[in-house]
Amino acid sequence: MKYYINSTADYHQHDLNSLGWELTVCNSLEPVNSPCRKILTLPLSFGEHLYNFLKEIIPFNNLRSILEIGGGMGCLMRDLLTFNPQMQAKMIDISPYLLDKQKETLKSFNADFELTDILSADPASLSGFDLVIMNENLGDLPTLVAEQAKENDSEYDIVDYLVKLEHFKNKYDLSLGLNENEHINIGAIEILEKLCLAGIKYIYLSEHSCEAVVPEHMKQYISFRSSGSPEMILLKGHKEFTIKFSYLQKIAEMLNYPARRGPFTDFLHLNFNDKVKTALRLTSPYNDEQEIIRQFVYDLYKYEYLILIKGDE
Ligand SMILES: C[S@@+](CC[C@H](N)C(=O)[O-])C[C@H]1O[C@@H](n2cnc3c(N)ncnc32)[C@H](O)[C@@H]1O
Repeated sequence: MKYYINSTADYHQHDLNSLGWELTVCNSLEPVNSPCRKILTLPLSFGEHLYNFLKEIIPFNNLRSILEIGGGMGCLMRDLLTFNPQMQAKMIDISPYLLDKQKETLKSFNADFELTDILSADPASLSGFDLVIMNENLGDLPTLVAEQAKENDSEYDIVDYLVKLEHFKNKYDLSLGLNENEHINIGAIEILEKLCLAGIKYIYLSEHSCEAVVPEHMKQYISFRSSGSPEMILLKGHKEFTIKFSYLQKIAEMLNYPARRGPFTDFLHLNFNDKVKTALRLTSPYNDEQEIIRQFVYDLYKYEYLILIKGDE
């Protein structure tokens, strides 16, 4: 089986100068008058919704330090620090453009910033944090792309990645590489292991999932395949891959991190009114708002989160 490496590092380091075209769920909920806020039961920002959910699971009052990796515009961290100003925050990002945006958004908070590819960060530098957040960015990390016909013409050395693949396959008893057409979220697996081995007490991750399932009651309104194998998503200037969360969950549990996993709809509750139903039923939307609603509702079901809490020693 031949693989090549899909990396978004160059794109994020040199070409990215806007997040507008890659509208994350977090950014969709940012404008106070966003149509996405209006179709939730409460018209709050992403960070406010997520905090209300996480605070039932994570004792925020006891947390002293928080790290967000790949924080985009910095809005999620702004909300978390607004609720918990006692936390010392750190933002690590590979993109100089976005790190500058984060500095601007968080200028009135207690936060440090570091321009680094998280996969090259020293594990010891991660170990002091109580909570680590990675929202909607695991799919940006390197993926081993299975493609029989294609030569490995990428500049990335595949050998190191194949060594890692063997390591993860054997150590965690994963069927990595057995399906010869399956792409492998090697970067997501690597960062998950790195965070668990660093002994972080609380970890929150989220991304598009290749294992998400449309619930029965929504099948007449939205549809996507639950393929179970990472799928390619073409975006401006780069491509990323959906995440096979079951592998991440298995590794975490083997490293003594019991997991809670679910769709974004667990904390972003849809107000399923006639306006939403109409937008979803149309084969082609009549206006921009309907288009935005359709994409947003699709994302609510296509994204999964994983909350990991370090078990007792
Ligand atoms: C799709 S954006 C998500 C932004 C934000 N978390 C949100 O939910 O809106 C991906 C983020 O991850 C960052 N990123 C991508 N690859 C990274 C890497 N290898 N190391 C650190 N940050 C990375 C990007 O620069 C960007 O901030």
